[in-house]
Amino acid sequence: MSRVALVTGGTRGIGAAISVGLKAAGYTVAANYAGNDEAAAAFKAETGVPVYKWDVSSYEACADGVRKVEADLGPIEVLVNNAGITRDVMFHKMTPQQWREVIDTNLSGLFNMTHPVWGGMRDRGFGRIVNISSINGQKGQMGQANYSAAKAGDLGFTKALAQEGAAKNITVNAICPGYIGTEMVRAIPEKVLNERIIPLIPVGRLGEPEEIARCVVFLASDEAGFITGSTISANGGQFFV
Ligand SMILES: NC(=O)c1ccc[n+]([C@@H]2O[C@H](COP(=O)([O-])OP(=O)(O)OC[C@H]3O[C@@H](n4cnc5c(N)ncnc54)[C@H](OP(=O)(O)O)[C@@H]3O)[C@@H](O)[C@H]2O)c1
Repeated sequence: MSRVALVTGGTRGIGAAISVGLKAAGYTVAANYAGNDEAAAAFKAETGVPVYKWDVSSYEACADGVRKVEADLGPIEVLVNNAGITRDVMFHKMTPQQWREVIDTNLSGLFNMTHPVWGGMRDRGFGRIVNISSINGQKGQMGQANYSAAKAGDLGFTKALAQEGAAKNITVNAICPGYIGTEMVRAIPEKVLNERIIPLIPVGRLGEPEEIARCVVFLASDEAGFITGSTISANGGQFFV
């Protein structure tokens, strides 16, 4: 029986590449998404990966979603916390709502999703959690006080939980992508991308979603059992920790 992997935000961008990468590696994959039914339906038709709609910022919705996926596919042994949003704005203009939306999705979403699968992983003595943080959680980014705070929080969560999971053979790791060519990044004006972002990336290009997916497939594997609490920086040499 293949292991069951759940990818949040698994229908578009980096998450879609992760879902496809895990499926190709032999996992039974479920892809969660928030509201873009059209993109989810197209992803499902193209890949055959079942899709499940719920909002990771709601604890109850996550608990229900996990129950549904487990009823359909079996116990979740790999969880990839990938769902994320941006609400970029300079801090002096940032509203409490813009702060809360990003924290609720990008940080609390990790608690909401991990908590309902954690007990089962402990009972079975196996689990893999991979959290998709960001280069901007490592170095901070102007206009992203909300996003940088949430993504830095994801790294603290990863390191604390890694210590709790270790004795139960549950690894918890993070990946910090640099700028990857998804809709989230393509939404940045081309002039800004070409003149202010790409020149900062030593390899001279945006990353590909598949380059993040390959990191996830490695961390999810049985062979990666000695790696926990770690962060893979996949950023084209833009920032070293
Ligand atoms: N792209 C980059 O350069 C980059 C760099 C560093 C880190 N990251 C991180 O990588 C992750 C993926 O980014 P991306 O660029 O692939 O994003 P994306 O193309 O915008 O896709 C985001 C995915 O997350 C889902 N999602 C958003 N909010 C959700 C919620 N509340 N509940 C459930 N699903 C939700 C979306 O669902 P719908 O389709 O329904 O909207 C979609 O499937 C994020 O955590 C992001 O912060 C990205």
